[in-house]
Formats: sequence, structure tokens, C-alpha cells
Amino acid sequence: MKKIKVAIFGTGFMGRVHIESLRRLGSVEVVGVAGSTAERARRFADDVSIDWSTGDYRELIEDPEIDAVHICSPNALHYEMTMRSLERGKHVMCEKPLASTVEEANDMIELAKSKGLANCTLYNIRSYPQLQNLRRVREEGVLGDIRIVQGTYSQDWLFYETDWNWRIDSGSSRTFADIGTHWCDLAEHVTGLKITSLCADLQTFMKTRKKPKGSVETFKGKDVVPIDFDEVNIDTEDFGSMIFKMGDVARGSMTTSQVSVGRKNRLFLEVYGTKASAVWDGERPEELWIGHRNESSELLIKDSTIFPVAAQSYSDLPGGHSEGYDATFKQTFRRFYRTVEDRTSPVEYPTFEDGLRQLFLVDAVLESSRQQAWVSI
Ligand SMILES: NC(=O)c1ccc[n+]([C@@H]2O[C@H](COP(=O)([O-])OP(=O)(O)OC[C@H]3O[C@@H](n4cnc5c(N)ncnc54)[C@H](O)[C@@H]3O)[C@@H](O)[C@H]2O)c1
Repeated sequence: MKKIKVAIFGTGFMGRVHIESLRRLGSVEVVGVAGSTAERARRFADDVSIDWSTGDYRELIEDPEIDAVHICSPNALHYEMTMRSLERGKHVMCEKPLASTVEEANDMIELAKSKGLANCTLYNIRSYPQLQNLRRVREEGVLGDIRIVQGTYSQDWLFYETDWNWRIDSGSSRTFADIGTHWCDLAEHVTGLKITSLCADLQTFMKTRKKPKGSVETFKGKDVVPIDFDEVNIDTEDFGSMIFKMGDVARGSMTTSQVSVGRKNRLFLEVYGTKASAVWDGERPEELWIGHRNESSELLIKDSTIFPVAAQSYSDLPGGHSEGYDATFKQTFRRFYRTVEDRTSPVEYPTFEDGLRQLFLVDAVLESSRQQAWVSI
């Protein structure tokens, strides 16, 4: 069977995760990688056993054999890389956040539509088996009507003023755009409700940081000894909080942080309904807590054989055999490539439209925090 040929743009944290996850599919072959320089790309390509490497991603999209590209580069490059790739007829899997502005995202959606190409904004967290279980259990009415949605997405990898990454001086929102949008995408996906208005407050605790001379890949800051740095002013947020409305009834609150010491990557989501509640902790992804009033609450351990049918295919291993962060990429990619192979297949992954939706929320959060007021979406 002919394999789908794919190129990867970006040789950092996500570049590696995408390649490993694609290889687990079997039906897709990664034929080339592009990095910021030819040397970096070659070093990475050797490490992951790929022959073709380049310091210029445009070389890869000129190859008619390449069917799709994965954009795993810093956010500011997503627009240009996506637009050029779509122009050359490539299907696009783009990391979140989709673009730097709503206008860019609209262009990307229009072009993908006019070219008839598959497109995904990689809000991969949706694909955890227990979150699909939660989504389907909620659809079956087990929770009743949703009243309260709350939680947090907290990390600590930018805790010190010496911690640095391109995210810190790229774009007008950092923590909310980077991880807050994951939380919002998830909250809307599992509840089936949309955030209709919000009141947000963003805080930059460290007004200056020590920026190393040279780039630092994601989560690699701990390995860098900043002997040679510039003291730079910072205006992107370390922390954000918001209260929000989801239509006339449901209400919620969330916080998002990259300076919550001890919290490595904790996405926590609580959904309270008129019949029962559900809680999921991203640092314990195999568990789903279901809360009751008049009987014992339950801690469900992932076992897809007792999931609603629609959630079962998100788990490939028997109950008790953990499937983690990397498996969410495999699950999303599998669904994406099904639609690449057959353009009439149902779209069961977040698209560029979902990426645009999150950019509306980013704009609303920034405006609300600036005005210290409620903003409608
Ligand atoms: N879905 C998720 O869970 C998740 C997690 C982390 C990051 N991300 C997203 O993935 C993207 C990449 O983030 P990361 O954490 O991997 O960053 P990273 O810094 O680890 O890697 C980015 C890579 O892009 C390379 N690069 C820079 N300019 C380039 C160019 N012109 N051409 C090709 N490559 C270039 C850099 O050299 C680096 O290797 C971001 O958009 C980020 O928001 C998503």
C-alpha cells in the first residue's frame, strides 16, 4: 500500500513528538524535516533517522510527492508556512495557537477551503481516552445540565527570571495563548457549550527577564547556564485568570500559569451538572472522577470496554495499560490522515476553524484584562 508522505517543519519538542507519533500509525512516512538552519536540521534528522533535511522548508513543499506538512515551528511562523504549503496543495497539520491574529487565521481557513485541503489545529488534549469518555457520558445525560465549569492549566518551567523561551517575546499573549487556549478548547469540546462572555485579568510578575544570547528550545531552559544574557522588558503574562459565562445558565472560572512552582503540566478540569459531576487531572490522565450527592462518588480507571461506543476508539490498549500525552497525537493524526486518504470521511479532529475560535478568545482576554471589564465573544 502506498504510504502518505509527510514533511515536518521544526526540530524541537513538537517536531520529535510528531515524528514518533506518525511512525506509530504505519500508513504515513516522514520523508523530510526542515529546521531553522541546515546544520540543526541535519543533526535532528540524523537523530530520528530521516534522510532529507534542510534549513529552508520551502524546498520540501516544492516536492509533489509530499502530501502533507506538520508545522511544529514557533507561532510567528505558522501563517507563512501554512499559506505557502496550502498554495502548493499540501494538507496541513498546524500546531496551536493557529496564527498570530484572527485575520491570519481567516486567510488560512479561506485558502484551505478553496484548495479543498485537510487542515487541523493541534488541540490534541481532546484525544485523551478519559476526556472522550467524559464528553460522551455528558452527551448521554449522566451529568444532567451543566452548571459550573472550572479548572486550571499550570506549569512552572518559566518560574525563574533566567528561564527563557521564544514564547516570552512572541505575540501579545503568552500563557493564555500557549496553554490557556488548550484548556478553553477542551472545556468547550467536552461540555458542548461555548464561552459567550468573559472577564479576565493577566499578570506579568517578572517585568524583566534575562534573555540568553542564542535560542532555547521548549523545556530546555533548565540546561542553560545564563552567563551571557540581555536584561529585557517583558509584557507577556506569566499568569491569567478569568470568570466566564457559557450561555444563560452555565458559569465558570479558570486560571493559567507558567510560574506555579511544582506544577509541571497540570491541566485540571471540573464539570458540575444538575445530576452529577466529572473531574479530570492531566497529571493522572487514566482516571475520571464522577461525583454524586446521594451515593458514593466513583473513580473510574480507563477501560474502553465500558466507555460509550463513540469514545472507545480513542484507546488502543486494554484497561490499566496507560496511554499518555504522546498517544493523544497518534489518535489525532490517525483521524486526520483518514480524511487525507478519503476526503469524504468525517472530520473528528480540531480544524483551523477551532484554531480561529481560540484566537477570538485570546483577543477577548487581552481586551478584558486591559479594560478590566466583561467582554462578549
Ligand atoms: N500541542 C501541544 O501540546 C504543544 C506542546 C508544545 C508546543 N506546541 C506548539 O508547537 C510549536 C512548536 O513548539 P515547541 O515547543 O516544539 O518549540 P521548540 O522551540 O522546542 O521547537 C521549535 C523548533 O522550530 C525551529 N525553527 C525555528 N525557525 C524555523 C524555521 N524557519 N524553519 C524550520 N524550523 C524552525 C527551531 O529551531 C526549533 O527546533 C508551537 O506553536 C507551540 O505552541 C504544542
